[in-house]
Amino acid sequence: MILVDLILHPINTSLKLYYWLFGRFILYPLMGWLARRIDVRFLNFGYLPIDSGREGRPTSVGRGAGNKDDVIMKHVRKFLPTGDLTLAHCLLYEKALSMCEQYYPQFPEGARLLEVGCGLGGGMGWLRKAHPEFIDVVGVDKVASREGVISATAEELPEWVEHFDVVINIESSHAYSDVNRFLANCYRVLKPGGHLCWADLREVEKMPQVLENAAGAGFERLAFEMITPQVIKGIHATAARYDKLMEEVVSGDSWIVDG
Ligand SMILES: C[S@@+](CC[C@H](N)C(=O)[O-])C[C@H]1O[C@@H](n2cnc3c(N)ncnc32)[C@H](O)[C@@H]1O
Repeated sequence: MILVDLILHPINTSLKLYYWLFGRFILYPLMGWLARRIDVRFLNFGYLPIDSGREGRPTSVGRGAGNKDDVIMKHVRKFLPTGDLTLAHCLLYEKALSMCEQYYPQFPEGARLLEVGCGLGGGMGWLRKAHPEFIDVVGVDKVASREGVISATAEELPEWVEHFDVVINIESSHAYSDVNRFLANCYRVLKPGGHLCWADLREVEKMPQVLENAAGAGFERLAFEMITPQVIKGIHATAARYDKLMEEVVSGDSWIVDG
């Protein structure tokens, strides 16, 4: 059992509480409601490769961690038309998967993937398209806003959820009440030799504890990378997408009359 761990940027405790309250009571319920009316499928900040000459050096630690952005971009381009505004969202999923150097970009045929905290299902849709080798792409979310998503928490995954080759977790675990139970569940549902691909926000000083928790759950860390500059660049791209959506909402173009 191995762990691929990908950490974003630091936040302080009050900000963390703010994010939790904002996400739990405002953002996710609102996004679920809005998603039924406008084309919102992703809820992550996004990721865009940086020019390491001009924009700083990526921080990589561990076997398998490296700047594979060219490989990721080449893979994404096969499935996403130029100019598609979901690029940064999809790239964050690919970045997490790419930490699994043993396989990326092609996982074994017939592999099974579970997304914990799948949100509105945009990532699952992307993974089905870009990785047809996954025979199964299953999603779990606390706020299951669409059919086909298992309604459960990361801390209480149903017993029958099991036998996965990959578990992916994108910008979700910061909201969990008990990260140790999430990790224990990930370990349980993975087949021996499976991978946890994990991307989230953490305070820098809490990182040793997070890594200790993962090791305590039985995971071996294969790779770790700080991707703050790439995520900040991703935020600029996703913000532009939301501006465009809001313009469409205001002009009435995107609203679906669904009764
Ligand atoms: C920022 S969104 C990310 C969604 C998706 N991964 C994406 O990138 O579009 C975080 C998601 O985690 C879910 N979530 C929060 N707490 C959870 C929990 N304890 N168990 C399962 N899902 C949870 C929220 O409902 C939300 O859909």
